[in-house]
Order: sequence, then C-alpha cells, then structure tokens
Amino acid sequence: MKRIIAILMALALLAALVGCSAGNSTKESTAPAATATAQADDAKASAPEKTSGSRSIVVYFSRTGEQYGVGVIDKGNTAIVADMIVEQTGADSFEILPKTDSYPTTYKELTDVAKEEQNQNARPAIKDTVPNFDQYDTVYLGYPIWWGDLPMICYTFLESYDFSSKTIVPFCTHAGSGNAGTQSKIQAAAKNAQVKEVLTIAGTDTQKDPDSVKTTVTDWLNGMK
Ligand SMILES: Cc1cc2nc3c(=O)[nH]c(=O)nc-3n(C[C@H](O)[C@H](O)[C@H](O)COP(=O)(O)O)c2cc1C
Repeated sequence: MKRIIAILMALALLAALVGCSAGNSTKESTAPAATATAQADDAKASAPEKTSGSRSIVVYFSRTGEQYGVGVIDKGNTAIVADMIVEQTGADSFEILPKTDSYPTTYKELTDVAKEEQNQNARPAIKDTVPNFDQYDTVYLGYPIWWGDLPMICYTFLESYDFSSKTIVPFCTHAGSGNAGTQSKIQAAAKNAQVKEVLTIAGTDTQKDPDSVKTTVTDWLNGMK
C-alpha cells in the first residue's frame, strides 16, 4: 500500500513539474516576441531601416556578358567603376536590376533590344527599391552609354524618386561617344536635383587598365572635396 502511495505521489509531483515547465515555455515563447516587436517599433521610430548612416549612395546599371571591345565579361564596366567609388567613399550601393531580366547576353542582340526600348521611350521596371532613399544627400549615378543616351531603365530610376535637395554625381562608361550630353538629360529627368559633371570613362579601360581608372576615380573624388 505504502508503495502505491509513494508511486501516486511521485506521479503527482511529475505532473506538477510538467505543468509548471509548460507554463514557462509559453511565457518564454510570447515574452521575447513582444519585446522584439517593441524593439522593432522603437527602431522604426528612431532610426532608418538601413543603419549604415551613410549620406551617399552609389546607384548603377551595368551589364555582364558580351560587351564592346572586351569580349565576355563577368563584371560590368560601369560596375567596376561603381565599386571603386564605394571603396573610396564608403558610400552604400544599389544596383539597378530589371524586374524581368530579358536582356540578351550577346552584344548585337542587346543593342537591338536597347534600340527598341529607346524607340518606345520605355521605362523598364526595376527589381527593387532603394531602402530609405531619404537618408542620402549624394547619389552617384553610374550607367553605360546606350545609343548616345542613358539606358531607359535609368530614366525609370530617376523618375521613381524625389531628388529635391539631393546632388547627383553621374559617371558613365562608353565606347567612343563620351558622356553623350547625359548631364543635361539627367537634369531634365530629375529637375530638383543638383547634377554635377559626368565622370566619363572608356569602358575598355575598366577591364584592361583598372589601375589607371582607379587613379582617375581618386583624382575625380578628391577634386570634389
Ligand atoms: C545596347 C548598347 C548600346 C551602346 N551604345 C553606345 C553608344 O551609343 N556610344 C558608345 O560610346 N558606346 C555604346 N555602347 C558601349 C557601352 O557604353 C560600353 O561598352 C560600356 O562600357 C558598357 O558598360 P557596362 O559593362 O557597364 O554595361 C553600347 C553598348 C550597348 C550594350
């Protein structure tokens, strides 16, 4: 009989312990979530989504695949310059990517598609948006010259944001046209921005002579200080 009572007491104790521990686990699973939510709310109220704190961002469009004068490349000419600017300024960066990437990776076909976009004055959709665009004063904008102009997707970008009290610092790569008057085209698309002169780099140099491009970028950045 004593043994039965002892077993029953042990079972009762076990049941009490399990109940207690289940109670704790419920608490534990709700309390941190509530704290996390409160913390997230605080963060939203006091800090931007992006916490780098940088006032500058490098926004660029660039293509890999077959390119003029450089064969097939796995890092775009403009992307190379963009990275140099990021490295030297500590700016954030954002690559303009098409929402649906149907651009050919062969040069001739790409020029055909680009010409068609230009003829239609198209505004190809961009995949993502720049987080917390408001935090930036300076937007370095990089692009390849396409048919004597900015690629149409860069107009999508320029028309998607408010550039009031921002400075756009353009840089481009090209295959002989120079910057093709893109400073004034950018100014027309982003009327409220202050648009600086375009840093103009031969696309082939970025692949074949990156050291000299780096020096050019450094001098250009120093000249703006
Ligand atoms: C669709 C297309 C059109 C182009 N049109 C021109 C042009 O009008 N003038 C020019 O100098 N280069 C032109 N190029 C050459 C690019 O501007 C040059 O190769 C650039 O460095 C490519 O940069 P990315 O690798 O960053 O895309 C064109 C290239 C492509 C793909």
